[in-house]
Amino acid sequence: MQARHFLALSDLTRTELDFLMRRARELKQLQREGNLHQPLRGRVLGMVFEKSSTRTRVSFEAGMAQLGGSAIFLSPRDSQLGRGEPVEDTARVLSRMLDVVMIRTFGHDILERFAAHSRVPVINGLSDSHHPCQLLADIQTYIEHRGSLEGKRVAWIGDGNNMCHSYMEAAALLDFELRIACPDGFDPDHGLLDRTDGRASIERDPMVAATDADLVVTDVWASMGQEDEQTAREAVFEPYRVTSAIMAQAADDALFMHCLPAHRGEEVDAEVIDGPQSVVWDEAENRLHAQKALLEWLLLDED
Ligand code: CP
Ligand code: NVA
Repeated sequence: MQARHFLALSDLTRTELDFLMRRARELKQLQREGNLHQPLRGRVLGMVFEKSSTRTRVSFEAGMAQLGGSAIFLSPRDSQLGRGEPVEDTARVLSRMLDVVMIRTFGHDILERFAAHSRVPVINGLSDSHHPCQLLADIQTYIEHRGSLEGKRVAWIGDGNNMCHSYMEAAALLDFELRIACPDGFDPDHGLLDRTDGRASIERDPMVAATDADLVVTDVWASMGQEDEQTAREAVFEPYRVTSAIMAQAADDALFMHCLPAHRGEEVDAEVIDGPQSVVWDEAENRLHAQKALLEWLLLDED
């Protein structure tokens, strides 16, 4: 049987996403109560990191340990991946030894090629095009603070990047309005935009995008792999900083989210990210709970 993969949020149906969000909150509660829940005893997750990480690595590793399993960290520096072994061969080998694989990489095609040759589920831990695990955490966080995202207005302020793409897929899946304020030349993928059926739209003016928003989200101006563009991007993105003035345009009870790591004074002012509307620490914590729900679902569904 073909393994079930999680490469993009759109790999889930609405029903599956709703289930994962309910389960994530249950697992969080169990964890809070100190109840051991170890359905993945003996199961092993392989984690391939071709880019840096704090949250993704720790949440997956801690999550597997809490579920009774274990995780192996692999980087190109100390595996044959960095010495040119084909992705397809690596997938064939790793998936004969492991129960599930998480990959953080550059091109999304690398994930797709790996998944096509893997016997076990493959999870996207971030590619240049998508960051679906972060969306699981963001959606859980919104639900915990404000309830369903359905019918809400979300403002994405910044680059039309991997996070923006995953927000676009979330808008289509959960039926909320996504207004994307990005500079000309930094648009998200227009094909993906078309597939949101009008739920996502581009709005150059961040003030207009933020007007009456229930949630304001941003991300770094230069993503991993774009370090050379940092200085040039700072000039272009300057008007796209999330400031108190932007938050004042949003609804009175609007929340602020950022996947982290954040750069205060660049994409967000300190008074916003450290202010009362910011839920970034809950958002970071929920990576753990949401991914535990995902791992449990992917692995136990296989049985
Ligand atoms: N948000 C996120 O994915 O963080 P890391 O890069 O630290 O994993
Ligand atoms: N867009 C950022 C997200 C980091 C979690 C990047 O790709 O570097």
